[in-house]
Amino acid sequence: MARKIRKPAEAESEDEVRRAVREHYKELALQEKPCCGSGKSTMCGCGLYSDSELGVVPSESSSVSAGCGNPTAIAGLKEGMTVVDLGSGGGIDAFLSSKKVGPKGKVYGIDATPEMILRARKTARENGFDNVEFRLGEIEHIPLPDGCADVIISNCVINLSPQKQQVFDEAFRILRPGGRLAVSDIVLLKELPESLKADMAAWSSCVSGAVLEGEYLGAIKKAGFEQVKVEERAVYDHEQLSSYIGGSSEPTAVTSFSGKKDRMDLSGTVASSKVTAVKPAGKERLR
Ligand SMILES: C[S@@+](CC[C@H](N)C(=O)[O-])C[C@H]1O[C@@H](n2cnc3c(N)ncnc32)[C@H](O)[C@@H]1O
Repeated sequence: MARKIRKPAEAESEDEVRRAVREHYKELALQEKPCCGSGKSTMCGCGLYSDSELGVVPSESSSVSAGCGNPTAIAGLKEGMTVVDLGSGGGIDAFLSSKKVGPKGKVYGIDATPEMILRARKTARENGFDNVEFRLGEIEHIPLPDGCADVIISNCVINLSPQKQQVFDEAFRILRPGGRLAVSDIVLLKELPESLKADMAAWSSCVSGAVLEGEYLGAIKKAGFEQVKVEERAVYDHEQLSSYIGGSSEPTAVTSFSGKKDRMDLSGTVASSKVTAVKPAGKERLR
């Protein structure tokens, strides 16, 4: 069955989108200076975690944190659980989860950018996170067996996928019946201007790959999940979005974006939503 794909007009293929996304996050993975810089953006993982949370994760992970929420806060993690972090980046949420599930639990971080995986593995090794394993792979083809996870988390990643339905299908496959999905992600509340939709840098920056919130929730339900719920939604105003995609912390410039509000007002268009859902007990894949 043909899947719905939205991608920038100039990108010839889905693989080109994936390559550009990997290049973008490779630069972030190799970066030494903190991603937040002096900016006040909350879309770069900045200001999203409490001081006590930041106190238990290695700075090598928080300095390249690029999330848009804090999915561990809504994941209901308990000791002994197996957690999978889709698009784990530098590992901040995987390390937070590791503390919550304890030595009897296990955390897998999956990421498609080799440099991110190498960085996260080094951080885990050097900081004694023995229950965390980072695997190189695409979240559309998760390198884990059926029914292995109690909880799946993800922070600002699924918007980057050109195959979002496939990601939710895969999440459903690897969760045990009764398991929970808890994601923070960028969604749209209104359609973006065409020029921004066609900008690959805006895709890599977690904006133009995003879909309308209703479409996003619909894909989760279509995968077979129940109790799909938006737990929290932070709607960005124009200034917040400008400081993010027009900001100096971005490895790739979003040239199609005009920071001037009178030329392109994006207030109320983009939001970060925290969504939870449950794989029904005793139910397998619907499709
Ligand atoms: C915005 S960053 C978020 C990283 C991390 N979740 C955090 O909060 O810091 C997106 C991450 O997802 C990874 N990624 C993007 N598309 C992916 C895909 N299709 N499969 C696996 N990883 C992907 C990127 O390599 C990058 O590390």
